[in-house]
Amino acid sequence: MKKIRILAIESSCDETAIAIYCSEKGLISNLIYSQIKLHQVYGGVVPEIASRNHLTKITHLVEKSLLEAKIGLKEITHFAYTQGPGLAGSLLIGASFAKSLAVFNRTPILPIHHMEGHLVAPMLENSSLNFPFLTLLISGGHSMLVVAKKMGDYQILGESRDDALGEAFDKVAKMMGLGYPGGAKLSKLASECKKSKYTFPRPMINHDSLDFSFSGLKTHALQTYEMSKKTKSEKIQIARAFEEAIIDVIIAKTTKAMELTGLNKLVVSGGVSANLPLRNALTHKFGSQFVYFPRLSLCGDNAAMIAYAAYLRLKEFKNYAFEEDKKINIQPRWSIEDID
Ligand code: KG4
Ligand code: ZN
Repeated sequence: MKKIRILAIESSCDETAIAIYCSEKGLISNLIYSQIKLHQVYGGVVPEIASRNHLTKITHLVEKSLLEAKIGLKEITHFAYTQGPGLAGSLLIGASFAKSLAVFNRTPILPIHHMEGHLVAPMLENSSLNFPFLTLLISGGHSMLVVAKKMGDYQILGESRDDALGEAFDKVAKMMGLGYPGGAKLSKLASECKKSKYTFPRPMINHDSLDFSFSGLKTHALQTYEMSKKTKSEKIQIARAFEEAIIDVIIAKTTKAMELTGLNKLVVSGGVSANLPLRNALTHKFGSQFVYFPRLSLCGDNAAMIAYAAYLRLKEFKNYAFEEDKKINIQPRWSIEDID
């Protein structure tokens, strides 16, 4: 295969991210601009603000990324972008920018599924990790257990029936006045106590299915907080009890999925995979040689994972069907099982 240099754009939510992956040197640029400060005042992501902000940042970030990689635009051999799932307006900015660059540069373009990006993120730095494996994808928008058979061939074993895991973290954190997104802050608070005086329910822990449900647990945490004195020490106890319940459920469901599939490798990815107590519990349960996480900076949304997914697709599918039409294609709602 001749030298490949892929410039990838990720703009599915509130991060404008650009990365360049080189087949010989690996990741040669990785930039993430987070809009989070703009959305914090609203307590959540405002789609219109997100897309406008992608638009104002994207040109500068692409230029900066090329500078960081010390290459010119003409040296890019392929472009890649997040086609979905995500916010329609935000996806459109990345998709149209990538397509314009590809048309101008006369290079092929690869549309990538955001969750496939998360799924391959740990492979970027673990050359020993090969398909098949079990994947636990936990982010602000998704919580699922997926069998990754090979590139592009995924089977969902279970998923959240209501709130995504990150969403549940964020809602509890917001109610306690920790701001948005509060997952990491809630976990930091929880780390101030070893064992909570509260025991929260473990939803669906003994259920036959591998689905999750976090909405009831979230409501339980909210009600406990409402009835408490709302002091810092109460917040710490509640945060700890919430996190303990989540870890127990995740361990139980993941264990069941490993047994069911007979797979012994586990990949954990998505924003919530940055949660240290969860990382420790999974490593302790399955053994460090069998559990793979992205490095902390690649757990959340980034373009490195999109560039790498594009690279793996090029390697895997020799006759890759590049998008050749000039239409802008996005898929705001798109199951990981429906990838081509
Ligand atoms: O993957 P991601 O960056 O964006 C989506 O695609 O959703 O995930 C963001 C989510 C947020 O809900 C955030 O609160 C959560 O990941 N998160 C955490 C931690 N760090 C980020 N949740 C719990 N503990 C953390 N340390
Ligand atoms: Zn994500």
